[in-house]
Amino acid sequence: MMLFALSASPKLAQQVSTGLNVPLSKVEITQFADGELMVRSLDSVRDANVYVIQSTSTPATQHLMELLVFVDSLKRGSAHEINVVIPYYGYARQDRIARPREPITAKLVADLLTAAGVNRVVTIDIHTNQIQGFFSIPVDTLSALPLMAQALRVQFDKEKISLNDVTVISPDHGSILRGRDLATLLPGSQLALIDKRRPEPNVAEVISLIGDVKNKTIVIVDDIIDTAGTMLGAIDMLKKHHAKSIWICATHAVFSLDAVKQLTQLGLKHILVSDTIDHPTYAGIEKISIAPMLIKVIHHLEEGLPLTPIYEDYNVY
Ligand code: R5P
Repeated sequence: MMLFALSASPKLAQQVSTGLNVPLSKVEITQFADGELMVRSLDSVRDANVYVIQSTSTPATQHLMELLVFVDSLKRGSAHEINVVIPYYGYARQDRIARPREPITAKLVADLLTAAGVNRVVTIDIHTNQIQGFFSIPVDTLSALPLMAQALRVQFDKEKISLNDVTVISPDHGSILRGRDLATLLPGSQLALIDKRRPEPNVAEVISLIGDVKNKTIVIVDDIIDTAGTMLGAIDMLKKHHAKSIWICATHAVFSLDAVKQLTQLGLKHILVSDTIDHPTYAGIEKISIAPMLIKVIHHLEEGLPLTPIYEDYNVY
């Protein structure tokens, strides 16, 4: 097997490499004066099972293109199998036509990856699991929620918070399944929902709250924190409804604009994200690593072992 890191995910890929005891193979990324990319392996990939780790995070289009170009080079270099690990699958939010004449770019990205020559995709907390069906190749969609739930339970125990006093909040109708899953992983907790509308991209409007949050310890769960507009709207609404304390967690810390500043100045009890997207460590934001999960997945794929035990640990049924 050969393991490659492209430019979006060097830290995560290094941890996976160490855990698997497989060195990262050398890759050359060249950008021409006009912005065109050329990406190639510096070693032969002939007949190799190749694993490429690359989140399609900011700059999303550049990182996606880098991945596509590299996959093309691997195919032309006669790799045996091309597995791409996309911890954060950018463009996944464009998964349906929500307003007239919108594209379904999540499907376009699936088509592009397949056309480039990808044989299998592994991804974490993709915006909606139905995106699996946009591909005609195997797609493994794992979740960081069990890791988040474990980290939350440790903190709750430390602070002597009973799960019966916890309410999990889904900050919009799209995250209701995620909210239900986290509530399942925190037995005894309740589930409540915020009705959020998005009149235009990056603008979140909170309409109402469904459920009881008064004097409760709140955990808001989402897949992505981008501009943090969704979280900020939810937090405001929950404070107005007299929540006792507010904790937030999201797998993908996109953190656009001044999201970090806005969130860390609120004095929230806890902010929990994962390392699907490489970013610096911020004071007041806890980051849990998904590397151990990826190490197990790649190990099982390479050894031809079933992934079911991994799904049992890293998914919610
Ligand atoms: C939307 O459907 C997603 O699940 C997130 O709620 C959204 O992407 C978060 O974006 P922002 O932080 O910009 O509100």
